Amino acid sequence: RRQERFGTNVKEQILRLFKEANGQFVSGEALSEALGCSRTAIWKHISELRAQGYQFEAVRRSGYRLLATPDIPYAEQVKAGLNTQRLGCETHFFETVESTQTEIHALARAGAPEGTVVIADEQVKGKGRLGRSWHSPPGSGIWMSVLLRPKLELQRCPQLTLVAAVAIVETIREQTGLPLMIKWPNDLLLNGKKVCGILTELRAESDCVDYIALGIGINVSSASFPSELADIATSLSIEQQGQAPLRTPLIKRLLEKLEELYFLYVEQGFSAIKPRWEAHALMLGKPITARRVNSATLQGIAIGIDEQGALLLRMEDGRTEHIYSADIDM
Ligand code: BTN
Repeated sequence: RRQERFGTNVKEQILRLFKEANGQFVSGEALSEALGCSRTAIWKHISELRAQGYQFEAVRRSGYRLLATPDIPYAEQVKAGLNTQRLGCETHFFETVESTQTEIHALARAGAPEGTVVIADEQVKGKGRLGRSWHSPPGSGIWMSVLLRPKLELQRCPQLTLVAAVAIVETIREQTGLPLMIKWPNDLLLNGKKVCGILTELRAESDCVDYIALGIGINVSSASFPSELADIATSLSIEQQGQAPLRTPLIKRLLEKLEELYFLYVEQGFSAIKPRWEAHALMLGKPITARRVNSATLQGIAIGIDEQGALLLRMEDGRTEHIYSADIDM
């Protein structure tokens, strides 16, 4: 299932004409002339747009007037007025996709430029970390992947996850006032429940990074979760008594912030990001358990992160362990 929306199709052209009309009526005749199709065809397209959440007023003899646009992050809407140099320069929107990560990998291999973005309204095979799945129902979240092509040594790449975490926390705090916290390495929590996850995948040849696929999932307006997630997941709207921020402006602001921090990181290194990460870190000073893959589980006090982005764990005997990859229990 893969359906791209808003290429240069008729509906996009219809919407453009309504935007140009600036809230005024556009006659059916004018529409059919401009688009070179019949009045019946126009009427069919308007009905389809209505089904997608666009609201039109129809008045005999005057034609149609666009009253409201749904909050769907179509590429056109995301790009309009976006204040970035690279991120979002090429943006693809899909109504339904297996995973935006799969799409961004395909685009990357075909040579897409740094900053290419894939957004989906729904993912049917959303991917989480460690082979888990990511619940991505339609209309309720930001499911997005960003293509980066940094000139970085391989071992520094995990830092990009932390850069993204800071960008997301700062953006959501700024837009909603919600006190998101970062749980190392990549979970963003609200009141102890996960509201956002980051999946960083990379392709490299020998020691050289070819590209990074940065996947971001934010539960925006989900009202409930399947039972296995109910205790551990939340959404921005659940935490705001049903008030959900609009996805399109949130995505725009996030891309702007992400670019700002990414450029800062590339120019000045991780030390420019580290204090901003630590300012929102959830477990500093607290006892935690780090469950590592293929090595022993460790218990200790989380005391910070190192220049690599690894978690520093103060052990009972006073030694400090550097944790590169683990699931954390607190
Ligand atoms: C995690 O916490 O396990 C990471 C979740 C990452 C989910 C996002 S949604 C957009 C992108 N596409 C995917 O299939 N996964 C990431």
